[in-house]
Amino acid sequence: MRVAFYEPGARADLWLQELRAALPHALVAHWEAGAPPADYAVTWAPPQQLIDEQTGLKALFNIGAGVDRLLQLRLPSHLRVVRLDDAGMGVQMAEYVCHALIRHFREFETYAGQQLESGWTQRPPRTRSEFPVGIMGLGVLGEKVAQAVRQFEFPVGGWSRTARRIDGVRCFAGQAEFGDFLAATKVLVCLLPLTADTQDILCHASLSRLQAGAYVINVARGGLLVEDDLLALVDSGHLAGAMLDVFRTEPLPLDHPFWRHPKIQVTPHTSAQTRRDESIAQIVGKINALERGEPIAGIVDLERGY
Ligand code: NAP
Ligand code: GLV
Repeated sequence: MRVAFYEPGARADLWLQELRAALPHALVAHWEAGAPPADYAVTWAPPQQLIDEQTGLKALFNIGAGVDRLLQLRLPSHLRVVRLDDAGMGVQMAEYVCHALIRHFREFETYAGQQLESGWTQRPPRTRSEFPVGIMGLGVLGEKVAQAVRQFEFPVGGWSRTARRIDGVRCFAGQAEFGDFLAATKVLVCLLPLTADTQDILCHASLSRLQAGAYVINVARGGLLVEDDLLALVDSGHLAGAMLDVFRTEPLPLDHPFWRHPKIQVTPHTSAQTRRDESIAQIVGKINALERGEPIAGIVDLERGY
């Protein structure tokens, strides 16, 4: 069995080394133009040439959860694209979102400001029931985040394309229930995939339907959020602020207003990083399952875009 690996980052050697150790009977090689036909490809941000040359792949594994970048390439409709299913990202997302939520709810940013002036003023306690959390996207990561947020006893809602039932989560689905979901949300968490249907979904029209003083946490993709609309709504006071991990242009340009906005916190696309060990274990498990003719989870629907 041949496995082609492609990753443009600095860690490619470690991936290769660990993939070879986990697939001792396979020939695992870094892909380059003209490489022999492989059975499987394990890639992040592959070039079009890899897709065009490797026409006999049984599956192409994306070493990330989001496939929006991959789906910008011309892919044959029969290509089996497999994305990462959690693989250690769920717990990181839960940490990030709970941190952002609690930092906002408990006003830790205000206390950080007070400390600069040796200030000792307690803020009045806030009421959890007045901070319903709404999670856009109830997939692998969204559901994990919903369960984590529930532990802190906030009311939790969620929105997905098709109807879902999750214990303790008020579920909304489809365009018909989008307005009700927004109206029921004070802290919005975005965990949608970036697709033709979701591009720019966080815009003036949707954000202004959130409860007054709402807070926005975007940990999915920058293309979901119209950044100028968010800024306008924060500056008008309708939104209390935002914590953002993903941006339309990454790295975030140095002159971007988010860097210095007092009500916006930014992080460098780090809310849930790909864990090499867990990802390799998952991918190798799926290659072995496919070789045995068994079904696997995480196959991307190329039409739907996730
Ligand atoms: P997933 O399992 O595919 O879940 C996607 C969820 O979004 C599903 O609940 C789906 O609804 C819903 N959805 C899709 N299109 C929709 C639409 N048009 N309207 C309403 N709901 C829609 O994905 P995941 O593994 O949870 O990952 C989500 C995203 O997180 C990834 O695509 C990636 O972009 C992002 N991500 C970011 C980082 C980071 O470090 N910032 C790390 C990992 C992932 P159904 O349940 O009905 O299918
Ligand atoms: C990271 O952003 C991913 O999609 O895994």
